[in-house]
Amino acid sequence: MYNGNERLFVINIFSKPYIITITTMINEQVQQKIKRRSVTSVDRREKLSRREFIKEYIEPGIPVILTDAVQSWGALDKISPKFFKDNYGHYTKEVKGVTYTFAEFMDLMVASTEEKPCPYPFNLNIENYFPELMKDIRPEVVFGKIDRVNHPLLPRFMMRGTDVYEFFLGGAGSAFPFLHIDALFLHNQATQLYGTKDFIIYPPEQAIFFYPSKENPKHSPINVLNPDYDKYPLFKEAQPLRVTLKKGETLIFPSGWWHYTQMYGPSISMGRVHLNAEYWNMYVADESREWKERSKIVGNLVYLYGKVLGKVMDLQEIFV
Ligand SMILES: [Fe+2]
Repeated sequence: MYNGNERLFVINIFSKPYIITITTMINEQVQQKIKRRSVTSVDRREKLSRREFIKEYIEPGIPVILTDAVQSWGALDKISPKFFKDNYGHYTKEVKGVTYTFAEFMDLMVASTEEKPCPYPFNLNIENYFPELMKDIRPEVVFGKIDRVNHPLLPRFMMRGTDVYEFFLGGAGSAFPFLHIDALFLHNQATQLYGTKDFIIYPPEQAIFFYPSKENPKHSPINVLNPDYDKYPLFKEAQPLRVTLKKGETLIFPSGWWHYTQMYGPSISMGRVHLNAEYWNMYVADESREWKERSKIVGNLVYLYGKVLGKVMDLQEIFV
């Protein structure tokens, strides 16, 4: 879990009888687990203060939909299939070996049906494709006490294996039918900018039902739209939470929550990854693994730097 409690321990061990602090720490962790087990739906919240957001959702690891977090985003009035067709129609993107212009794709997306779905996934790195649109997705929703992903001491090359800001476009019949946890154990923000999108999510304790392999523990081999129950009988026990994200809403769910998505009409959402103290060491280990595939020396350096940087950020968060 996020280690606000550990921090409490460090602060108090010299100033108070720390046994009280330890007891509080254990009790809080037990309460968090109990609270998460009892989650049977995803709250829709508005006017949530930063403190409430962290205490009620981030620390216990509970997903939430923020209904008013991006009300002032310029992207809400701007982003649509027509906007991309009119302004970026000549750009290209390859999906499953076929190259489409954005203009072609937008037509396919609008005409997409369950029987004849448009190509998917059509995801676009916003920082690379549309740096001029970054201003339209501000102000940020800050997931933790500080925004670790955008920390000045964390260079973007240490996010190898994922994009930080992406547009996801799809149409009726589009689906990402494979259950997974996001790369690098990052936390997930999905903000709906056009149309609606369904997220089907499962808490971490249900991983046993998904048959993740040792080689790829963040992915399930099950096709959830057509599951093979003979091969994966435990999947029958899985109990998903399904949410339909509407325009202007932001779904936040922590790393460890399994998920897939489905669309029933034209949909554009923005995906954004986050980091906090809770999964920092797993992120560092995964990031260094990514780099080791290219160079063992660079991978080891990334690991060492990541560990030191994590401590620096931990210290910084004490004072926030
Ligand atoms: Fe994902």
